[in-house]
Amino acid sequence: MSNEFIRWNDLYSLGIEKIDNQHKKLIEIINKIFDFLSEEKAEVIIPEIIKELKDYTQYHFKTEEDLFEQYDYPDTEDHRLKHQEFIDMIGKWSNEIKNNKNILYEMMNFLRKWLLEHILHDDRAYGKFFKDNNIQIN
Ligand SMILES: [Fe+2]
Ligand SMILES: [Fe+2]
Repeated sequence: MSNEFIRWNDLYSLGIEKIDNQHKKLIEIINKIFDFLSEEKAEVIIPEIIKELKDYTQYHFKTEEDLFEQYDYPDTEDHRLKHQEFIDMIGKWSNEIKNNKNILYEMMNFLRKWLLEHILHDDRAYGKFFKDNNIQIN
């Protein structure tokens, strides 16, 4: 598809297939919200997709945090805090858009910016830690 809101780029890859696939899935859900923005039933469907995004994000964050714990990742607490802040932000946006649909594009930009920066900066940092320590994730 050529009009994707976020397009996967191999720069985002951590080289850990399981994590890359989960990041791709998150991008796919955010793209799905985007696809519905101008649909007639947007106000019914978008909250449902945001719920799906929140659920899958929690699942993904748990995958990462379990790996941090398993392999004693030194930056666990800071990373976990960033995850929690994002979950809180999703909740906040989903409440706010109920009263104000004009902020949907602002929300989309927030989601894209947060996710890509988090992958490129914070997630990449643990990817490097695992690699430097010869930790193989299956
Ligand atoms: Fe991640
Ligand atoms: Fe993360």
